[in-house]
Amino acid sequence: MDKKVWACNEWDPLEEVIVGSVDDAVVPVWNVALGSATPSHSKWFFDEYGGKPFPQEMRDKAAYELDNLVKVLENLGVTVRRPEKQDFSKECVTPWWTSTGLYSAMPRDVMMVVGDTIIEAPMAWRSRYFEIYAFRDLIEEYFRDGARWLAAPKGSMKDSFYNQDFDPENAEPNGVRQFAVAENEVAFDAADFVRFGKDLFVQKSGVTNAMGIEWVRRHLGDEYAIHELSFDEEHPLHIDTSIVPLCPGKLLINPSWVRKEHLPSMFDSWEIIEAPEPTMPFDSALYFSSDWLTMNFLSVDEKTAIVEENEGPLMELLAKHGINSIPIPFRNFYPFGGAVHCATADIRRRGTLDSYF
Ligand code: ARG
Repeated sequence: MDKKVWACNEWDPLEEVIVGSVDDAVVPVWNVALGSATPSHSKWFFDEYGGKPFPQEMRDKAAYELDNLVKVLENLGVTVRRPEKQDFSKECVTPWWTSTGLYSAMPRDVMMVVGDTIIEAPMAWRSRYFEIYAFRDLIEEYFRDGARWLAAPKGSMKDSFYNQDFDPENAEPNGVRQFAVAENEVAFDAADFVRFGKDLFVQKSGVTNAMGIEWVRRHLGDEYAIHELSFDEEHPLHIDTSIVPLCPGKLLINPSWVRKEHLPSMFDSWEIIEAPEPTMPFDSALYFSSDWLTMNFLSVDEKTAIVEENEGPLMELLAKHGINSIPIPFRNFYPFGGAVHCATADIRRRGTLDSYF
């Protein structure tokens, strides 16, 4: 296998990865899509900083942890690439709206490698419309090196792209789950997908709609099956704090949001393992997420995981399943909305395209 870009699942031996950056990160301006996916206690943060850079101290501390992650990966023999610098404070102007940017901190959200294909997500937040360009130099290089490359059609992100009357306090009026993103255009973030070889699982969320899921399904073709799941997370955004495969046959689930009944029968022969409660109390510094970032570790291979150093109960659990944890400080990155899995995007994992069900 001499492909430069190749990854079929979340656990094969990692050979090359992109690690995000918080340089020039800008706090997005509050809107219905942001409000649908972020905890209500953080509104003050967006009111105060929306359109301005994240406070320097937050960026410095998170940047230090990202640089350390890079060293840890390189010491394991993994090739690490970083995004191109981009000025996210520049306001972009479209025919319908204007917006400042966000960051290039979460490559997992904007792109995914499926087999030898790089898929660019269209995104659904205005602040993320141009984020992919921080990764374009890399993608163009990978394309020259033989990768296939698909960019999903970007939604207009006009007002009609969103359910303007979405109420985060009542996401299920009449018992039917509503989402902030409407159904009239293609929308998905890559992080709403998780890869298990020939099977991928996806959830609808505040940024991923049925048309987005169907777009991925048709483009991946008959070799792959896309299965849609739905959990109890009140405001779903990215699947990687809900279910995390450890290796073939073992699935870690978030016990607050995922019940075994949510999983299709294809998981009947799998061991379903409940993640321990987060060690970090759900505090107000988590502006974009819940405290379940606990589960958001990165598998280097089936026996090795890079885990935030305070997540002791998780490390103990992983050890019981034969997985050795490499602890790293990452708490100062959490307020940007993700942990180690979000902060990375796999480019190459050594392995073959298989079926595990
Ligand atoms: N919505 C998730 C939570 O609140 C956060 C997931 C972050 N993942 C990511 N790829 N950015 O726990």
